[in-house]
This record gives sequence, structure tokens and C-alpha cells, in this order.
Amino acid sequence: MNSQINMAKDWWKESAAGIPKLITETPGPESLRMHANTTKYMKGLSGQVKLFPVCFEEGHGITLTDVDGNKYLDFSSGIYVTSLGHCHPKISEAIAYWAKKLMNAHDFTSPVKEKLMEKMAAILPGKLNAIQLYSDGTAAVEAAIRAARAITNKHEFISAYRDFHGKTMGAVSCAQMYRGETHSYGPTRAAGFYMVPRPDPYRPLWTKGDGTIDTDAYIRFYETFILEATVGNVAAFVLEPAQGWAGSIFPPDDFFPKLKTLCDKYKILLYDDKVLAGMGRTGEWLTLNHWGVIPDIVTFGKSFGNGFPVTAMVVSEENGPALEKISASSSYGGNPMACAAALASLQVIEEEDILQNVRKVGDFFMKRMLKMKDQHSIIGDVKGKGFLLGIELVKDKKTKEPFDEAGKLVYQKAFRKGLAWIPAGHILRMSPPLIMDEKYASMGMDIIENAISEVEMEFGYR
Ligand SMILES: Cc1ncc(COP(=O)(O)O)c(C=O)c1O
Repeated sequence: MNSQINMAKDWWKESAAGIPKLITETPGPESLRMHANTTKYMKGLSGQVKLFPVCFEEGHGITLTDVDGNKYLDFSSGIYVTSLGHCHPKISEAIAYWAKKLMNAHDFTSPVKEKLMEKMAAILPGKLNAIQLYSDGTAAVEAAIRAARAITNKHEFISAYRDFHGKTMGAVSCAQMYRGETHSYGPTRAAGFYMVPRPDPYRPLWTKGDGTIDTDAYIRFYETFILEATVGNVAAFVLEPAQGWAGSIFPPDDFFPKLKTLCDKYKILLYDDKVLAGMGRTGEWLTLNHWGVIPDIVTFGKSFGNGFPVTAMVVSEENGPALEKISASSSYGGNPMACAAALASLQVIEEEDILQNVRKVGDFFMKRMLKMKDQHSIIGDVKGKGFLLGIELVKDKKTKEPFDEAGKLVYQKAFRKGLAWIPAGHILRMSPPLIMDEKYASMGMDIIENAISEVEMEFGYR
């Protein structure tokens, strides 16, 4: 029956009716009390929480409810995590089933693990089908580094400025080191890990005669770097397909195909860290599908289990035997609840035609953001694909000076108006649940645009 199919797809709409619905000032009194009490003990919270100390107690679909009873439209998916909506009934039921039946069996196979392996192998392109399961993104990244060493018998790694890959030693060594007060006590980069600039079309380092970004110049620099700066033992290039944390920055379309050719020339593996971009967020199973590139290693996290901690590291079949050298055993990796969450999430993406929705509503988002860019003097650039989006705020469109103060204020104002979201700097990052339709996409963009207009007034731009 058709209504049943719609019920399955529209499960989130009833709880979304009437949002945003604010019944107190936000953050409300109970949020402020609870936050103050918690932070007597809990230390080191993120900038987002410090700027807007709300406490949530319920999430359903695209709706978040705080402890004062205020209802918010979700433009964050946790933090790129609950991509199929909070507490998707099919996924919650799958987790609950195994929570009552078998919670852990080390890395022995369970019926649900068998099904997940088959599903992943069927979905992933090429012969990406040698898999290990972990329970956070960073652990999967560390496994990918071990895998690259095991496959190539080489030990050097090249990654890119402003990428983020996690907070343990290997992951940190592949990423931007934080300076200043936040994170400045972290480890320095391990030996053999190098960073190179990565093409950002809005802030190109190398341009062609017509002023557009010159991807060949980046690739030429990488080649020189491999030959001059390394000892010729580069195991892998470690890259996010699009830089999430740095602000939804996508490279030009020809970048990854050219990089893959360079990697193949020097027998360097291309490792695609998809922990943040997840399956489907850009409208393809893998973001690299947009550019026809199949990576040698890929990691999944965040949305992989739609909120249940489950992550994966995958290499191609021909490199699978090398994974025998790096044990997949971990305390929680691949437990039955985790496998059930991941399997149900992949099934939901197919059954609810999520990729199609992401492409359709993603086009709407981009058109709307381009219009906003024309109408607002502090919007320097808009960027993204599908539901991985960013609006870059600048003090001056010519100098492109980042406008951090405006970013923080827009974040707070939009949150106060009922939009739960994630920016923390001058790029307004958005990561709405992939189930969202145009009605709510438009509602969220209206809230953001109002907040930008107010901030422009406050800073004398209107
Ligand atoms: C690209 C990327 N890799 C790895 C990680 C680390 O994942 P986790 O926080 O689950 O350890 C993140 C987290 O934001 C990420 O964005």
C-alpha cells in the first residue's frame, strides 16, 4: 500500500510539525542550570557548546527538544552523525534487538556481521571489500595508517593543510596542528608525516592566467615534494574528500583524478578519509564517486551507524591479505549492536531513496546560497555538494579577510531563533539530516539569512 511506503519515508514529519517552537528565551533556564552544574566537573567542551550552552533531551527525525521544552530544527545531525534523522525507528529497533540478544562477542562473526559485510561489499565501488570494524573515527584512521604500512612496506605519509583526521598520534600527525590556547598541548607531528597545501577554489595558492585555480601546479608541487622532501618511502596520501572541519571546502573537479594518477606513478596509496562526509551526504555513496576515482583505502565513521559508535576501514581486495598483518581485534569494533546499526543505516539509505533526496534538496540549497551571496556583503563564498555545505563570511569581498566575529554572532543568533547547528568560525558549516525536504531546508536558510542580516546591521554593513 502506498501510504505504508510514505509512512516509512515520512516517519519524522509529525514530530517536525510546528518547529521551531520556542517557549522560553534560549538557552532556557533549565539548560543554563544543567550546563552550569555539569561544567563544574566536565571540562574542555567545544566552542559551539560554550557559545550556546543548551541541553538537549530528545531527538526525533529533524527535531531536537531541549530540557526547557523548546523545539529546534536540526541543521547539524549531531556533528555529521545522525544523518538519517535522530532515532530512526528502523535503526533504533535494530540496535535494541541485539542489545537484548548479544552485545559483544569479540571479533567472532555474528549473523548480523555476515549481512553487513555482504552489504558493504555490494555497495562499495571497484573491489573495495576487505574490511575491518572499529568504534570511533580516529581508531579507523589509525588502522588505515597501519594498513598502508602493511600493504606497501613504506612508512611516510603526505596529507594536506587544514584536513582533520582525529586526535591520536597518527591521526594528529596527518592533520593541521592547532595553535593558540586550544589544543596547543597536543603532540607535535610524528616523524615521516608531511603536509602540503590543498586546492581551495576560493583561496587558491596557484592560479592560471585567467585567475582560476591551477590544479596542475598543485600536482607539480606534490611531485617535487615527493622527490625532494621525502626519502622515497611514501605509503599513502591521506586526504578528506572534501574538508569538513575546515568549512565544507571541495577541491576542483579535476583534482582527485590528477592526484590518483600521480599516486599510481609513485606506487603511493590514495587514502580517502570519509569519516565526516559519510555515506551519501554529498549525493553519492562515496564523495570520490563524483570524480570517478576509486581510492585504495577508505574510512567511514560518524553517520555510518547513524549515532551508534561504529566505524570501518576498507581496502581493495588485492590488498586484503596485508590486513592479516594488522589484527582487527578490538574491544567494541564490530559488536552485534554496531553491525546492526550500520546495516540498518545502509538499508535505510537505499529504501528511502536518500541519495536522490540529497541531490534534489542539495540543488535547492546551492541555488538559495548563491542568491544569498549576491544579496549580502559579508558572504564571500558559498560551497558544498548535497548536504555538506558552507557559507564563508568575510569582512570585505575583495580582501577576503575572514570575519570570525560575524560567524560566532550568526551562529548564536540563528540558534536563538531555533536552528540547532555547528559553525564555530567564519565559515558557517551546515550538516542537515539527509531526510530533510525543501520545506525545512528553506526554513533553515531563512533563519540563517535573517541572522546574517542582523549581524550586517550590527557591524554597519546595512
Ligand atoms: C575526516 C575525519 N576523520 C576522523 C575524525 C575522527 O573521528 P572521531 O571523532 O569519531 O574519532 C573526524 C572527526 O571529526 C573527521 O572529521
